Amino acid sequence: MKQSILLGIESSCDDTSAAIIQGRNILSNVTAHQKVHQNFGGVVPEMASRAHQQNIVPVIDEAIRIANITKKDIAAIAFTKGPGLLGSLLVGSSFAKSLAMALHVPLIEVHHMQAHILAHFIDDASESKPNFPFLCLTVSGGHTQIVCVKDYFDMEIVGETLDDAAGEAFDKIGKMLGLPYPSGPEIDALAQHGNERAFAFATPKVEGYNFSFSGIKTSVLYFLQKQIQLNPNFVQEELNDICASAQSTIISYVIQQLKKASRELGIHEVAIAGGVSANSLLRKQLLMEQEKGTWKAHIPKFEYTTDNAAMIALVGSLKYERKQFSEMEVTATASYKM
Ligand code: KG4
Ligand code: ZN
Repeated sequence: MKQSILLGIESSCDDTSAAIIQGRNILSNVTAHQKVHQNFGGVVPEMASRAHQQNIVPVIDEAIRIANITKKDIAAIAFTKGPGLLGSLLVGSSFAKSLAMALHVPLIEVHHMQAHILAHFIDDASESKPNFPFLCLTVSGGHTQIVCVKDYFDMEIVGETLDDAAGEAFDKIGKMLGLPYPSGPEIDALAQHGNERAFAFATPKVEGYNFSFSGIKTSVLYFLQKQIQLNPNFVQEELNDICASAQSTIISYVIQQLKKASRELGIHEVAIAGGVSANSLLRKQLLMEQEKGTWKAHIPKFEYTTDNAAMIALVGSLKYERKQFSEMEVTATASYKM
């Protein structure tokens, strides 16, 4: 039997994305990255909603064209209900509702963070799929969590950040260094040419499997302020080493907490998800630990790490199989609990 074709729509933050899926096979995944926020050091919510409104029709049209289907082939529409920026979520959810009504197909609400995790089950996401239960380190611009994934829709957050998210730490440190937003990819690239042992930054001690990043951020800030007093060109001259040292501090800390959770909970399959899971050092350290026998690591393809609609479409497919449809009254929810 031919599997149903679904449209997935993601608009929770600053990426407008649409994907077409058939079963667990992605036929297209199109994303418009908003450039308007680059010089603001973060996402400007009102600019984000406006850009979503400009992008949503062309992005969906393009996804349908690349998948070589017509609107009539779409059996259901999945969209991000939350968490995220309300104005951004409203653009995607309103569009999804209207199109579902026009096409007379079911609507499926999706939790953005669940989708980041379940992206591992997209056919071509990685060579091997995680076995339940596994631990997923979800590291993005808005979240940092260790989630115990017992089944597709049975997840428990066992640790989370008490302040900033890991991606936020990258972005805020990037802002101090004069790098454009989002700074994670820039810091990652510059760190390739730097020495990670050049400078030492403090890492916080928190209980359990939780995280705190505000101390690292402040440690970098004070360090820079001191060094700039001694040499006004310090940042320009030492940029690669600063990036390498800051990145290494954040990633080693995250790995340390994940190791603790894996050891104490006795779960030796781990996965990563969210924008920061694109980080090359995080991927390297996960694989190094795998070689040491600490765990089996599942690392998704780059295109399924930062915000994308393929992961929304995948959750749509899983819910479609289970006939978990939403009412037309469903609303976008900025702080949507997992
Ligand atoms: O998941 P995502 O696209 O959006 C949210 O839901 O937040 O994550 C975006 C975050 C940003 O903070 C960005 O700086 C970070 O992911 N990021 C990275 C890398 N690529 C993206 N951080 C570190 N290294 C990277 N290579
Ligand atoms: Zn995300």
